[in-house]
Amino acid sequence: GDAEKGAFPHFMLKEIYEQPETLANAMRGRLEADNATAHFGGLNLGAQQLRQIDRVVMTACGTSYHAALVGEYLFEEFARVPVEVEYASELRYRNPPMDRNTVVLALTQSGETADTLAALRESKRMGHTTLAICNAVGSSIAREADGGVYLHAGPEIGVASTKAFTSQVAVLAMLALYLGRTRHLSSTQGQRIIAELQALPGVIRKTLECHDQVKLVAQKYAGAKNVLYLGRQYLYPVALEGALKLKEISYIHAEGYPAAEMKHGPIALVDENTPSVFLVPRGNVFDKVMSNMQEIKARGGPVIAIASAGDHEVSAVADDVIEIPDVPEYLQPIVTAIPLQLLAYEIALLCGCDVDKPRNLAKSVTVE
Ligand code: G6P
Repeated sequence: GDAEKGAFPHFMLKEIYEQPETLANAMRGRLEADNATAHFGGLNLGAQQLRQIDRVVMTACGTSYHAALVGEYLFEEFARVPVEVEYASELRYRNPPMDRNTVVLALTQSGETADTLAALRESKRMGHTTLAICNAVGSSIAREADGGVYLHAGPEIGVASTKAFTSQVAVLAMLALYLGRTRHLSSTQGQRIIAELQALPGVIRKTLECHDQVKLVAQKYAGAKNVLYLGRQYLYPVALEGALKLKEISYIHAEGYPAAEMKHGPIALVDENTPSVFLVPRGNVFDKVMSNMQEIKARGGPVIAIASAGDHEVSAVADDVIEIPDVPEYLQPIVTAIPLQLLAYEIALLCGCDVDKPRNLAKSVTVE
């Protein structure tokens, strides 16, 4: 009912604003500064089994699939474990060669998505250890997986997933730390990651201050028919997620792309009426993303940049800038997701859409 929304007009906005707390909840009791690692009560993996994992197949649908794509970068960076990410609806009908030491990790907010459940069952049938990262306690996938990690994000009511995404990424970062610490990751590196994770709720509180900038940008671009979302590396999956959020609740066509790949097709869409949202905080590929941004500007496309606070190099090129706090690159997916959630929300409101219950969509897709 309305009471549960508190002071917020929509569940989606309430859930966006809950993220400092939901991230703290995802981490509570799981970070172990002494051993510079993370631990999880329900993984049910023995030390031997843990060390033998030589490949992880992550499977999910929708927003959870985008979190899994971030997980691929995290696991490979921190644990040097090869990861493959597959839509559950594809995995369930494939027969991919996987050996005994491949673990299948399902990601799902609801724990009830039919395709994800079917992919998990098929993996179990083939003899694989299955794990789940899940929000809904006691859900089908949580019960059927061999082990797993709960998000503890509380019920997510808005159909467009927000807080579940950032918590999934936080759990994946902790899992990557945990796996990494059984391998090559040093205790110094582990301690640094723990400190950075612990600072995250405060950083997200600060990030939410971008809301006023987001409102102005939304007013300027709410009439667009097409929007491109572009990012690289850790922020490529966030570009996909930003585009999905806009499509879901405003019905504006949007595409997420790796920023450098847009010259192989989507750049043909660029004109003065087609804005591009660039994810361009400071980091390794900053210069590369800046040159992708110039390519769009040169073709007359308006650019909205999600950038590090006070970045004059970006503001000299972009038409509009939304500022976010600086964090290490592996945490940028969580931080940059916030303005994209708010942008979709504000544009959908201006378009007169029902943000909590978009047409044709269900919170949980329990049929194939
Ligand atoms: C539906 C929802 C999406 C969600 C997807 C996967 O399509 O509308 O917001 O990302 O299902 O749901 P899950 O519960 O498995 O994460």
